[in-house]
Amino acid sequence: MLSEIDHVGIAVSDLEDAVAFYAKVFGAEVVHREVVVSDGVEEVLIKVAESYIQLLASIRDDSPVAKFIAKRGEGLHHIAYRVESCAEALKSVVDHGYEVIDSKPRPGSRGTTVAFVSPKSAFGTLIELVQE
Ligand code: CO
Repeated sequence: MLSEIDHVGIAVSDLEDAVAFYAKVFGAEVVHREVVVSDGVEEVLIKVAESYIQLLASIRDDSPVAKFIAKRGEGLHHIAYRVESCAEALKSVVDHGYEVIDSKPRPGSRGTTVAFVSPKSAFGTLIELVQE
């Protein structure tokens, strides 16, 4: 079901600082930038081969990313797998008795459809399923 790593999400305190780091050190360019109000984040995508690094900064104090940084500091936040059908992959998680964060697929950035699987079920890693 998992066809590719779509992106790796990294929680950062200062988006511009993080973008500047990738640009300066690796010559990496931002290919997409979006404020996702429902998630309380501003995100930037940097393309790496067929995948992305997703830099995530909180836009409000009560967002999941703000809480993550307050608790654990900046760093790896989630891994996103590309799937053909988000609904089908999510159903498989639920059918096997594991915990999900999103009970049904919802809109993500770039016009994608996404759903998150609980890190409690996935060995401490927050998993995002991404359907293009
Ligand atoms: Co993501």
